[in-house]
Amino acid sequence: MKPSVVVVGSCMIDLISYTEVLPKAGETIFGSSFKIGFGGKGANQCVAASRLGCETALVACVGDDTFGENYLKNLDDDGINKEYVTTVGNVSTGVATIVVDGKGENSIIIVGGSNQKMTINEVLKAESVIKNSKVVVCQGEISEASTKMALLLGRKHEVVTLMNAAPADSNMDKEIYALSEYFCVNETEILISQMNDIDVLYKQGKAEILTGVKVNSLTEAKRACELLKEEGCLEVIITLGSEGAIYHWKEGFEHIPAPRINNVVDTTGAGDAFVGALSYFLSQSSELSRSEMIKRSCEVASVSIQSKGTQTSFPHRKDVIKFLEGLIGIFLE
Ligand code: RIB
Ligand code: NA
Repeated sequence: MKPSVVVVGSCMIDLISYTEVLPKAGETIFGSSFKIGFGGKGANQCVAASRLGCETALVACVGDDTFGENYLKNLDDDGINKEYVTTVGNVSTGVATIVVDGKGENSIIIVGGSNQKMTINEVLKAESVIKNSKVVVCQGEISEASTKMALLLGRKHEVVTLMNAAPADSNMDKEIYALSEYFCVNETEILISQMNDIDVLYKQGKAEILTGVKVNSLTEAKRACELLKEEGCLEVIITLGSEGAIYHWKEGFEHIPAPRINNVVDTTGAGDAFVGALSYFLSQSSELSRSEMIKRSCEVASVSIQSKGTQTSFPHRKDVIKFLEGLIGIFLE
């Protein structure tokens, strides 16, 4: 079967420590538990899409270490085409050191390792699989040249391009905007964006969220969307955590709320669950409106925040089949 979603991105091993509050500088604290798992935004998004039930391929680089070997097995377990995953010599597989606090919020340090070794050659080798797919998905954890090449190939072959600007890079090549049919970014990543006016707007937006005046923060999110569109993106999605997402397309804006979740355990990778799910719906569900796809992707992300880890918390098709068939909300099965 031809993959309908191709993700060009990262593989990381996640080392996750859980603790009530984060340590202060110079402080040593006891955490409550530890988990090691398969992560990296690229692979996470690919796994999320694959679990929902579409054929996927990953274009990535792992290191020649046990982490890399295990990662390849992990991709097999999720039925992902790994023909374009390269094992690079003399470099470690990417690693993410993650701390999750009692509210389920995370802080992440990534050491790119093998991911930084990806060149445009690895991407060019995947041209035919990209050409035959429906959606190509990119993030910000591999070299920018590789990301740009993947988006260029997507546009060349009229494949939908979905760019998730995470982690945000204040020096991101501006051509990436124009190559992104869907440009998806998280509210906190907007905060560290180089676009000063967005930066200012968003600091105001955040302050207003803190003071409880949410309408204004949505207004600011809309303004941020407009500025991103002015940069050349065709359609913009800003994810707002528990507030859902703002979708901006040529005819206007829509605020798409997320389900209310009371038991938030671990939000790590929720953005990836969202992007992976969106790529699934874009490739499989042409009968749905874009806003319905975004709403359902928020629901998939909401499932992921209720258990620990990244890929370990993403739903499997068999568990959400009625939801995928559009029969019921994801939490009503
Ligand atoms: O988005 C979550 C992911 O970010 C983690 O899996 C970690 O590997 C980092 O890439
Ligand atoms: Na999770």
